[in-house]
Amino acid sequence: MATDVKKLVSEMTLEEKASLCGGADFWHTKAVERLGIPRFMMSDGPHGLRKQDEEADHLGVNDSIKAVCFPAACATASSFDTEMIGKMGEAIGDECQAENLSIVLGPAVNIKRSPLCGRNFEYFSEDPFLAGKMSAAYINGVQSKHVGTSIKHFALNNQEYYRMSNNSVASERTIREIYFPAFEISVKEAQPKTVMCSYNRINGTYASDNEWLLSKVLRDDWGFEGFVMTDWGAVDDRVQGVRAGLELEMPGNTEVNDQKIIAAVKDGSLDEKLVDRCCERILKVVYDYHDNKKEGVVFDRDADHEKAIAFAAECGVLLENDGILPLDPSKKIVYIGEYAESPRYQGGGSSHINSSKVTSALDSAKAKGRNVEYVKGFPAQKDEPLDKAELDKAVAAAKGADVVVIFAGLPDVIESEGYDRKNMNMPAAQNELISAIAEVNKNVVVVLHNGSPVETPWAEDVAAILEMYLGGQGVGEATDQLLYGEKNPSGHLAETFPMRVQDNPSYLNFNSDPEICNYAEGVYVGYRYYDKKMMPVRWAFGHGLSYTTFELSNVKLSSDKMTDDSRITVSVDVKNTGKVVGKEVVQLYVGDLNGTPDRPVKELKGFAKVEVAPGETKTVSMEIDSRALSYYEERMNDWFAPSGKYELLIGNASDNITLREEISFETKKIKPMRMDSSITVGELLANPVTAPIMGEALRKAMQDSPFGDPNEAVGDEMMQAMVNFMPLKSLMSFGMMDEKSMLALLDQFKAVIK
Ligand code: BGC
Repeated sequence: MATDVKKLVSEMTLEEKASLCGGADFWHTKAVERLGIPRFMMSDGPHGLRKQDEEADHLGVNDSIKAVCFPAACATASSFDTEMIGKMGEAIGDECQAENLSIVLGPAVNIKRSPLCGRNFEYFSEDPFLAGKMSAAYINGVQSKHVGTSIKHFALNNQEYYRMSNNSVASERTIREIYFPAFEISVKEAQPKTVMCSYNRINGTYASDNEWLLSKVLRDDWGFEGFVMTDWGAVDDRVQGVRAGLELEMPGNTEVNDQKIIAAVKDGSLDEKLVDRCCERILKVVYDYHDNKKEGVVFDRDADHEKAIAFAAECGVLLENDGILPLDPSKKIVYIGEYAESPRYQGGGSSHINSSKVTSALDSAKAKGRNVEYVKGFPAQKDEPLDKAELDKAVAAAKGADVVVIFAGLPDVIESEGYDRKNMNMPAAQNELISAIAEVNKNVVVVLHNGSPVETPWAEDVAAILEMYLGGQGVGEATDQLLYGEKNPSGHLAETFPMRVQDNPSYLNFNSDPEICNYAEGVYVGYRYYDKKMMPVRWAFGHGLSYTTFELSNVKLSSDKMTDDSRITVSVDVKNTGKVVGKEVVQLYVGDLNGTPDRPVKELKGFAKVEVAPGETKTVSMEIDSRALSYYEERMNDWFAPSGKYELLIGNASDNITLREEISFETKKIKPMRMDSSITVGELLANPVTAPIMGEALRKAMQDSPFGDPNEAVGDEMMQAMVNFMPLKSLMSFGMMDEKSMLALLDQFKAVIK
């Protein structure tokens, strides 16, 4: 039977309640022994356990127990596979049960706004829909094991630069369309047990003090039922936090703030009911875990290592391939680059896992008896000048080989929690080595290990590129399986690779001011920007190749009409037209055809991954509703899509749309019009409700006006365009209407527009 937390809280003293609102130490909530209230333990996250008992820290500096490091979110997002990440969540949930952990601190769903954010490897995507769907599936997986999650970092924490104090300044539309949906989808579809608020301020108010964020949006708009905790050290004004909807302050050392809560209740500035509310919300989660604790679950590290390999193989993205891949094992193959021996498979900081074992590509090659020679070429974990002797060795080996596989990427020092990257480059030594090898051997394959896009000046000089991201401790074996065709690559990019960092929409406003981060590019993040600017990119969002080919056809819509409350199911046939079994990622984008100002060309609103055998055809289906067509209209404080036409664009990459359908949409929502004499003729003509009245008034007004008889220099079309931008009041200035008629006209408009 579930514990009655309301009753328990009613038995607590004010002191006990205030103290429950702060952590006991780095990883525990407080126990209240008098009432038998247990403490509980949490751990980072997100892609494996970082359970620390002694010498706790939040930057991954000190050791934690041996655990399994699964692929980081940069990798899992590329799988576009919600089922897979759900299974990963289940494995992590079981591990938590075995280790007596009640909450895993993740997933981290901040949007990859700039390739330079040091923590991008922990984040899913530049696209909020994809990030939200992957996150929700992960949460559902973990929580199916009666272990909680902590979705983080809420919100607008998209850089490490001054992350603990910076003020993220963005319009509500930008926040609602880009930076919130990953949280919103997760709350609505998976109800995470906890939310971790971020360090930064949002439009001037710290996330931890922000009632709009923590109560209005999170609870009232989305229906969140768990509790909110701070990021480690993110508390600002503890008493305001209680009012705002911040339940738990982490980590420990909260005595001073506990006293502030007590004092505020005593002096009447804080309602004790709000403290009760915090305790009830915290205890609900504590008891949900305790009442459902599973005994006897075993953390089988070897079995989970095998899962880590299988997941990593789903994530690798084949970016380029002239046919050299899959490798022919009978050929003479050379591996170059220390990542072959010691892969970069996870990022630095709080998510850093003490891995139970790591398989490198070289380990796998040896275990399988592959004919592979290895030359270090450059170090894995340093960014230092190319060693001439190493280069010479690598070039000599490459000259005598049929195929060269270069294992390249970013060392930890370049990409980590706590600081951002200075540029989008790979270490110069690696770029130089790749170019030098490409000059002596045309069969060069580059394998990449990085958490975010890099510039690849040599991309056109090599035969194939396989992006493995930070693929977890099984990444070496997964790379081997993909290189030799034991598995067919099926990952697709969850982010755009721009040609150069300067092309990124946030470039001018990223880390330009220690105090303010201006999200000036608005909703034009990632492909939303590159599409609109028709800017060439290195690899587009959604791109990913396979060893087979697919054909998409036969789109069927359950209806080509949609209303506010209806949904449309879109089904598509996927045929494998090649010779090996493979998985395709079908992507559904939506575009507005009504000339609505300031909208991206298209936005991802559905995706489906499907395995198809050669010659076989399978049908996938995706569903959209009116939200998929809508933008956030600040003047309505609501989502809005004007009645009209929308296009559904289907393909296997944002730059490879092969199918297109049109639908019509009818809404009952009315966008309010500002109704005073500054309203323009054009706006009145554009609104179907006011258009007939304005049209008629205009016809009359034109008859007697100096514009009624356009001379040769001003044609009808020009006339129309000029009048469009004319406010009603100006019709008086040009003698087209007197004040009385103008005011009467305004009254008529007010009567039809509510
Ligand atoms: C990070 C969080 C992490 C926490 C605990 C913070 O520095 O931002 O993501 O969960 O530390 O380690």
